[in-house]
Amino acid sequence: MSNQIPEETIESIRKSNDIVDVVGEYVQLKKQGKNFFGLCPFHGENTPSFSVTQEKQIFHCFGCGKGGNVITFMMEMEGFSFFEALKYLAAKTGISLPESTMQQENSISKENQDILSAYEWLTKLYNHLLRHAKDGKEGYAYFKGRGLTDETIDQFKLGFAPNVNDFTKTFLEKKGFHSSMLVKAGLLSLNDDHSITDSFRGRVIYPIRNHIGKTIAFAGRTITEQGPKYLNSSESELFQKGRLLYNFDLAKKHIRKQNEAVLFEGYMDVISAYQAGVRNSIATMGTALTESQAKLLRRYVDTVVICFDADQAGLDGAYKAAAILQNAGCLVKVANVGEGLDPDGYIQEYGAEAFQKHIIDASDTYMSFFMRYIKKDYNVQVEGDRFQYIEVVLKRIALIESPVEREYYVQELAKEYDLSADTLLQEVQAYRQQSVKVKDNREKDRYTNKTNHFIKPKRLLPAFHNAERQLIAYMLQDASIADKVQREIGVDFNIEMHKVIATYLYAFYEEGKDADVSLFIERLTDETHRKYISEIAMIPIYGEITDKEINDYIRIIRSENKDLASMRHLKQQQKLAEQQDDPMKAAEIAMQIILLKKQMKEHY
Ligand code: UTP
Ligand code: MN
Repeated sequence: MSNQIPEETIESIRKSNDIVDVVGEYVQLKKQGKNFFGLCPFHGENTPSFSVTQEKQIFHCFGCGKGGNVITFMMEMEGFSFFEALKYLAAKTGISLPESTMQQENSISKENQDILSAYEWLTKLYNHLLRHAKDGKEGYAYFKGRGLTDETIDQFKLGFAPNVNDFTKTFLEKKGFHSSMLVKAGLLSLNDDHSITDSFRGRVIYPIRNHIGKTIAFAGRTITEQGPKYLNSSESELFQKGRLLYNFDLAKKHIRKQNEAVLFEGYMDVISAYQAGVRNSIATMGTALTESQAKLLRRYVDTVVICFDADQAGLDGAYKAAAILQNAGCLVKVANVGEGLDPDGYIQEYGAEAFQKHIIDASDTYMSFFMRYIKKDYNVQVEGDRFQYIEVVLKRIALIESPVEREYYVQELAKEYDLSADTLLQEVQAYRQQSVKVKDNREKDRYTNKTNHFIKPKRLLPAFHNAERQLIAYMLQDASIADKVQREIGVDFNIEMHKVIATYLYAFYEEGKDADVSLFIERLTDETHRKYISEIAMIPIYGEITDKEINDYIRIIRSENKDLASMRHLKQQQKLAEQQDDPMKAAEIAMQIILLKKQMKEHY
């Protein structure tokens, strides 16, 4: 890992970014004993096996094996190169990197870097025009008319693209960007007559930022109600609607803190809600919520409040989004903004406080929403229809795990339709018994399926293997133990991986470094080594490490060495005896081998 960033700088960047905080921006971590646990961001799982230690500043997933420190975490998470990860973490804590290193080694292609840079220029330009120039007046008036403050406009970097054919084209070409690249980025359009013109003209611009706050696309809204309502940059390597959530970069820390996200349909809803103090606001970009977006949210929160328009399209969308979120393991609530309004409209009409109190805080449980949603398909005034409706609801109630909750909804239903709650509960019970059978079969399928490889059985390791792992865990924590082990057994571990780790570790300490797993891991280029060490480093260490304990481990390792050597020797002798046609001798050696095997087994 050659680089020109001074080691002290890297050190201070690492030390000023607590791994729990950084990981916490992506994963909802809960403290359990000394460590923090959460759902692994690198593989799909429903029970947390991803752990982080604050003390050692490393992470490890017991499910998929990934592990490392805060820098390698950012590399894995965002696909950063080492330099990009450093740059990102440095910026977070206000540490400056030497200029000369800023250009170095990027994991994204030159073309994508240019696209990002073009978007950055234009975001600034369009925002500037809107706020301060004659050419952007209409845009400014439009957003003012919709109740946005200057502060909000700047926070969301809203802008205006002038109604001129080649304004953007000229501006970017002067900066040295090629028009072919800009066409690809969706900023310029190639017309039928081969002329090239600006894509966004006479529209207000909503920059779409990725999860680290870089603009990667624009949505341009008409302010004359002519043409399509929105024009969006086309999808690209950098801009994939299905993997991105609008405003996630600003919302994520609030989402984490509140353990709740509010999902909207439109850009304006998010901006309006954010201005009204609902900071955990996000939206999809005109497409249905995807599984990938749901999984992303699940890593941050337990609860998602869906806050869509109150029209039929909004209700259908909410119903679908709810299913996807529940599948991903989220608890779903659904807000009801009321006939004829969208969330932004509600805020304009009734204000921020009412929105928080009467809409967000008062959102329906999923079950109440479900009852409301399917009711439209039945004419509950008619007896036959009413009973069908009740049956569908009871079936859904039967799926609820909590008996208290089941009873609650049954009571509601009984009250509403003047029925006996006991009878309804009996029906629910009957449905449950049916569905339990179905579920059992499904569970069986699941375990004979491919999910299997995540459930690694805890193997019982032979004693010498455990001794080596334990010893390495100690060596990672204490240079003097490593020193002693180096003197006594050097790299004569029995497990190949341990030989390699010991070699690296001795070299690390020989450089005069103090024990520091996080730093040690960072310097390993091989991912299998990182995985392995992060796992070993998670072995909890209780109380004092005594000399006796260390000596015991060394003894076990040595004797395994010795046993292995004797075994090799005996096997050779046995072969020789067979070649020399000496069955008596071969049999005697075979006996010895059995004895030695038995003796070695006792170490298990
Ligand atoms: P809406 O039509 O509800 O728009 O579409 P909106 O965001 O509330 O805008 P205002 O309040 O009328 O200004 C919801 C979302 O669907 C996508 C956009 O992401 C929009 O925010 N959409 C809608 C498009 O991509 N293109 C369109 O033409 C319309
Ligand atoms: Mn809307």
